[in-house]
Amino acid sequence: MLNLILFGPPGSGKGTQSEKLVAKYGLKHLSTGDLLRSEIAQKTALGLEAKSLMDRGQLVPDAVVIGMISSALETNPGAKGFLFDGFPRTSAQAEALDNLLELKGTSIKTMLAMEVSEEELVSRLLKRGETSGRSDDNNEGVIRARIAEYHKKTAIVADYYKKFDKVVSVKGEGSVEEIFERLSNEIDATITV
Ligand code: AP5
Ligand code: MG
Repeated sequence: MLNLILFGPPGSGKGTQSEKLVAKYGLKHLSTGDLLRSEIAQKTALGLEAKSLMDRGQLVPDAVVIGMISSALETNPGAKGFLFDGFPRTSAQAEALDNLLELKGTSIKTMLAMEVSEEELVSRLLKRGETSGRSDDNNEGVIRARIAEYHKKTAIVADYYKKFDKVVSVKGEGSVEEIFERLSNEIDATITV
């Protein structure tokens, strides 16, 4: 199996690049943000609990997202591999993911970490907020809160994978195609190792 984490702050292009990467490498895309928005759209109890936190730019509890990922792994037994987008976002989530993958006899191959300046992140998200309908995109305060939450709780997840020498940094600025090529080159290099 080829299991990858696409890592980066809010607005760094995880969703955009994930779509292209899963098509190219035949992976199953697992985005906890997308899974949570689908719960919200279906008005489930989990969605209602998550919405108030997401609208403030705060992370939802670890147990909620770990549960969602655990069942997504169960319901895709034949997957060639998984591309994790927006997960893991805390050290507890990273440890839980390693344990879940170990139970399946597999592990994370590489974390691709996209680097984008804060001003570029804010400008991309404000622009998307004009049309996306995402309630966490149309207010600069909430966007900055999401970025602050990333620095406080999520950036350290890269340190966790650095210990295992699994992190590759990729410049996340430039055209979508240029970044896709950089990511593909890094993936191709890890596959042949
Ligand atoms: P989530 O849905 O994961 O959102 P996010 O990480 O805040 O980031 P985005 O999805 O907004 O950005 P992205 O990196 O995917 O970039 P995109 O490709 O869309 O999480 C939302 C919330 O859910 C969290 O705040 C939290 O509350 C909760 N949550 C989710 N996962 C969780 C977890 N594991 N634990 C706890 N809570 C969790 O691109 C952004 C914009 O930029 C788009 O408009 C795009 O068109 C544009 N763009 C992309 N690439 C480029 C480029 N190269 N040049 C110019 N524009 C570009
Ligand atoms: Mg996304």
